[in-house]
Amino acid sequence: MTNNSALHSTAQAESEFLPGPVLLLGAPGVGKGTQAQLLVSKYGIPQLSTGDLLRGNIARGTELGIKAKAIMAAGHLVDDEIVNQMVFRRLLEKDTHRGYILDGYPRTLDQARFLDQMIADPRFLPRLPVIAVSIVVSYDQLLQRITGRRTCPVCASIYNIYSNAPKVAGLCDLDGANLTQRADDTEPVFAERMKTFEAQTAPVVAHYRALGRFEEADGNLSVDAVNIAIQQALSKLRGASK
Ligand code: AP5
Repeated sequence: MTNNSALHSTAQAESEFLPGPVLLLGAPGVGKGTQAQLLVSKYGIPQLSTGDLLRGNIARGTELGIKAKAIMAAGHLVDDEIVNQMVFRRLLEKDTHRGYILDGYPRTLDQARFLDQMIADPRFLPRLPVIAVSIVVSYDQLLQRITGRRTCPVCASIYNIYSNAPKVAGLCDLDGANLTQRADDTEPVFAERMKTFEAQTAPVVAHYRALGRFEEADGNLSVDAVNIAIQQALSKLRGASK
């Protein structure tokens, strides 16, 4: 087989891989958003980040954004009903027909039950069960990731002043926009977000672990190594041979 035909068959295998609904689970700062962006490029399916949707509402000053702002600044969770309806509306859009990556949802057992029921409804495509990857990172590493994170407000690229700094300090490599720091990325709010995670989201991880179709990825490794591990986990969970 020539290199070209090898490349062609790899590309074909990738386009034939149907990711379906993918959950990226894990504590604040484990790399869900970073990995979701890479999976979007790899599989051509959309990312749905409830955190990004909520921050978009805050930036636009919507009624929902006004309600969510103080809750998020305190490191607590926005009401299940609000978040569930946001996800419900988004998943009815046509671009999800081959699959989608849920980043930051579900975060409570009630959200998980809502999602499980929604996916069983024939209006939601593709008709495949959820597969979940939980990313695990040590606490000290998470704190550095959270306090060092900077984000581009234009293209949503994620940087870190310690581990993935932009070429020019403070500016996005792709569009030159001034990078911003999230309001909840301070040490005290991070501590509160971790408490919220342990109390309300750790049971969600246990829920999907118990259902099967679940893998864990070591998120302490480099971004690329974590990405390879997640792709391997997804292939295994969908039963694809790659
Ligand atoms: P959300 O925006 O979902 O925040 P989160 O879950 O706390 O997760 P983060 O976005 O902080 O981290 P991440 O795992 O995406 O990491 P990232 O890739 O950016 O939620 C914010 C708030 O919104 C919640 O607190 C809540 O109030 C509300 N909310 C959201 N969803 C909700 C829901 N479903 N229900 C109710 N309320 C909800 O990476 C972090 C940093 O690490 C970056 O700087 C990155 O460059 C770096 N990094 C990533 N990977 C690596 C690596 N392998 N090595 C070194 N550095 C790395």
